[in-house]
Amino acid sequence: MSFRIQPTAPARPNRCQLFGPGSNTKLFPKMAASAADVINLDLEDSVAPSDKDTARANVIEALNTIDWGTKYMSVRINGLDTPYWYRDVVDLLEQAGDRIDQIMIPKVGCAEDVYAVDALVTAIERAKGRTKPISFEVIIESAAGIAHVEAIAASSPRLQAMSLGAADFAASMGMQTTGIGGTQENYYMLRGDEKHWSDPWHWAQTAIVAACRTHGVLPVDGPFGDFSDDEGFRAQALRSATLGMVGKWAIHPKQIALANEVFTPSDAAVTEAREILDAMETAKTNGEGATVYKGRLVDIASIKQAEVIVAQAELIAGS
Ligand code: COA
Ligand code: MG
Repeated sequence: MSFRIQPTAPARPNRCQLFGPGSNTKLFPKMAASAADVINLDLEDSVAPSDKDTARANVIEALNTIDWGTKYMSVRINGLDTPYWYRDVVDLLEQAGDRIDQIMIPKVGCAEDVYAVDALVTAIERAKGRTKPISFEVIIESAAGIAHVEAIAASSPRLQAMSLGAADFAASMGMQTTGIGGTQENYYMLRGDEKHWSDPWHWAQTAIVAACRTHGVLPVDGPFGDFSDDEGFRAQALRSATLGMVGKWAIHPKQIALANEVFTPSDAAVTEAREILDAMETAKTNGEGATVYKGRLVDIASIKQAEVIVAQAELIAGS
């Protein structure tokens, strides 16, 4: 380990972030009653330009009046290249009370984007005597975002989570894709005439995970557009979980249970992790740094891997 110890990410469940347009108030009570850990009320791209003011007012009213239980409440503001974002921040911070936990900043391209929102939020918090600091999450969904991902992950102590937004990311990168996330028809290797599909999101995901883990931020997989494809969603989520991401967005209620299932460590995985920790405890009392568990090597690194699984399970059980 480097002299600088890797910071831990915020200890809260973030298995599923459920989105709903701020203009569609009918969805709000359903979102509140859902099994998602995080709610994202959207003021950005699911809201038409003509509805921006109404959506903002709807979201403020919903935060003040609906019983959201223990959900972590986030609002996606408009991008910094629009005329809407400052009003989103000002009205939310001045009018949405203490039930708002987090602001999601979309299309972040550099650390200064976060700095700008931080400066505005900080000024309003002080002016209004707000005692609960607002946290931030960002979406990496552009070439600039991924190029500057490490600086963005380090940009503010408010930053708690970072998502990959596959559709805008693909567009910004000039990728020849249409679907939102998942397998892409033309991204394959050939062996003879057999096609083997690869994962075009892999590099961006691992870059996000590395930046997040370096700076104590939760890495999250973004949307999967085809909500009639459960197996496609599950496959994408399993890859993300394998790479170190802690959760995934749901853009339809069908996807909530799928995300919760994938990002909750299974009983079998938790049992195995605890057995590895026990085996290493025994090894330690015998003065050994490594031992054999089910015919394979386990050592000090295995303790850390097992602890990740146990810690995640305990966090979710306690929530
Ligand atoms: N949250 C909670 N409930 C939702 C929901 C959501 N995001 N999306 C749909 N539902 C509800 C519907 O109201 C419907 O409820 P009902 O059975 O009581 O009538 C039920 O789930 C089934 O919905 P369905 O008819 O399959 O979908 P739809 O045509 O009503 O809506 C979308 C489809 C994609 C327009 C809608 O899911 C949506 O707006 N998703 C979020 C989009 C978004 O926020 N995008 C920004 C981030 S990428
Ligand atoms: Mg987007």
